[in-house]
Amino acid sequence: MSLLLDEQVPGGRYADPAPIPPPVPGQHWLRRMMPIIRPYALLLTVGFVSAAANMWLRVEIPSVSGRAIDRALIHHQEPIGTYARELALMGAGVLVFGITFRYALQRAAFEIEYTLRVLLFRQFSKLSFSFYDKVQTGQLVSRANSDVRSVQMFLAFGPMIGVSLVSFLAALFMMLRIHVLLTVVTLLCLPLVFASAKKMHKWMFPVSWVVSARQADIATIVEENVGGAQVVRSFAAEASQITSLDRAAQRLQWASVRMADIRARYGPLVQNLPRVGLALLLLYGGHLVIDNQITVGNLYSFTAYVMLIQLPFMMLGFLIMQAQRASASAQRILEILDEVPDIDDRPGAVDLVDCRGDVEFRGVRFSYRDGTDVLAGLDLDLRSGETVALVGRTGSGKSTVARLIPRFYDVGDGSVVIDGHDVRDLTLHSLRANVGLVLDDSFLFSGTVFENISFGRPDAPQEEVLAAARAAGAEDFIDRLSDGYDTIVGERGSTLSGGQRQRIAIARTLLVNPRILILDDCTSSIDAHREHEIHGALKTLMAGRTTLIIAHRLSTIALAQRVVLLDGGRILADGTHDQLLRDVPEYAEILRQAETPHHGPDGAVPDDHHLAAVPASELPVDDDVPKGIA
Ligand SMILES: Nc1ncnc2c1ncn2[C@@H]1O[C@H](COP(=O)(O)OP(=O)(O)OP(=O)(O)O)[C@@H](O)[C@H]1O
Ligand SMILES: [Mg+2]
Repeated sequence: MSLLLDEQVPGGRYADPAPIPPPVPGQHWLRRMMPIIRPYALLLTVGFVSAAANMWLRVEIPSVSGRAIDRALIHHQEPIGTYARELALMGAGVLVFGITFRYALQRAAFEIEYTLRVLLFRQFSKLSFSFYDKVQTGQLVSRANSDVRSVQMFLAFGPMIGVSLVSFLAALFMMLRIHVLLTVVTLLCLPLVFASAKKMHKWMFPVSWVVSARQADIATIVEENVGGAQVVRSFAAEASQITSLDRAAQRLQWASVRMADIRARYGPLVQNLPRVGLALLLLYGGHLVIDNQITVGNLYSFTAYVMLIQLPFMMLGFLIMQAQRASASAQRILEILDEVPDIDDRPGAVDLVDCRGDVEFRGVRFSYRDGTDVLAGLDLDLRSGETVALVGRTGSGKSTVARLIPRFYDVGDGSVVIDGHDVRDLTLHSLRANVGLVLDDSFLFSGTVFENISFGRPDAPQEEVLAAARAAGAEDFIDRLSDGYDTIVGERGSTLSGGQRQRIAIARTLLVNPRILILDDCTSSIDAHREHEIHGALKTLMAGRTTLIIAHRLSTIALAQRVVLLDGGRILADGTHDQLLRDVPEYAEILRQAETPHHGPDGAVPDDHHLAAVPASELPVDDDVPKGIA
């Protein structure tokens, strides 16, 4: 994945988001995100200026209306048409600036959101497997989603609310110019509005977090149940799954009801308190008009201002909450972006060119996070072009050996060497381009058969893709599919059989033409009777490459010239199948277990258990199997 992403889209608009500088303690997140905000500075400025113009006009309109009432309606000093024209112009201005600022601010916020997503996705595809071992991927992704959204919301609404706070000050100034005491009386209830709005948000903030966390829980349960539907049904576990979903839904409902409760209590308070202020305004302002201290127009302007002013007050609480949330979200985003991948090109890493395919493990010690050694001083030598079968009990570390070659993990001690280079001295791109991996779970992407085969080389010419499919023995069944190569395979390739998926995975690897090939248990999901059908494809795949084939089944082991037995993190034995069978009792034991996974109720083993004890020369394998074992 990372290989694709590292190649920059030539001329692409988002080809290269500016990198975020390293953390400085105590620095505000907005400052750290500056490099990705700066490209939109112009857009943000346009938005900000239009928002200011919009707000200014909205503050002006009540005072013009007030003047119109006084001069045109009461004193007939000027024709009403003049004011109507002026108000119409101002209204148009409010409209135009309103459109501009909303568009500009939202556009900038969405562009920044996009950049953040690109950065996060790149980081996700760069982070090492050891990182994913310690986090829950689903949670990580859904959290990253909501975090990006809350930063985007803050960027879009923050400036708007900021400007409306300024408009509050402007309106306040206009009101004070008309009558100071009336202003004070009118605004008496605003602190109450603010206090209740703040209180509401203070309660809402944690509850809304709980709500989104519980939504994520439900999403996880639903996702697992859709993905694992066959497991759920085969265990007839629907009832218990529904119960657990039901519980999660109840927890969400509880939190949502809490939120509705808080909103119901404080919402009307916040919205209607200003109306109490309106009554006070009418009472005291009315007296002032009667006493000729202010005009009717003034009283009208005041009324309009009160309505104008309450909005920023209500939103202030929202802004404070949004700012807190955005800050927490930004910290988490930055935390992910700051996570240094364990596995990356070291400075001065060289490209692996003209790979011969000599692979060597030198005293490799390795453990996953828990610290128990999976490999304890493993020495293994794969010579260019040979096929070696790696055999061992389940959990003995075979897949781990496989993962160390393309450097999915780094060794704890010792080294993995390819063509004389420590893999840590090679660029990841060139290393992985030369190592092909076919896994037992041949993961396909939802897309066409063609796209899946050309996954590693999306620009491969059609003939090569078809040739790869042919060589993998996939051509026949693809031709029989409803749309041939354009047939869409379901998520993870679910509409194909295990063997069909496997062949597409083999074609996919063939197309990339790697020098070193690792087949991890890749025939295990295939029925033993049908297995020989893909052996032809495997042989094509292995021809002329260094191949490490991890196998349980004798028939698969038969594809190799040499067998290596892994036990206790070390190589216990190394030789031909016949030698091992003769000299190493553990080997025969492991083969016996592999061939008879299901013992009968009385401990009886099915008939074919004797297979393992048969010398390779008498094995029922295809005629064209390399006879190295014999
Ligand atoms: N990502 C991981 N994090 C922590 N421990 C792991 C991880 N992957 C494997 N292990 C542990 O490492 C040991 C070796 O696992 P590995 O997958 O290499 O075995 P294997 O020989 O391939 O087994 P199998 O034949 O069942 O595929 C096991 O004990 C396993 O529990
Ligand atoms: Mg394995």
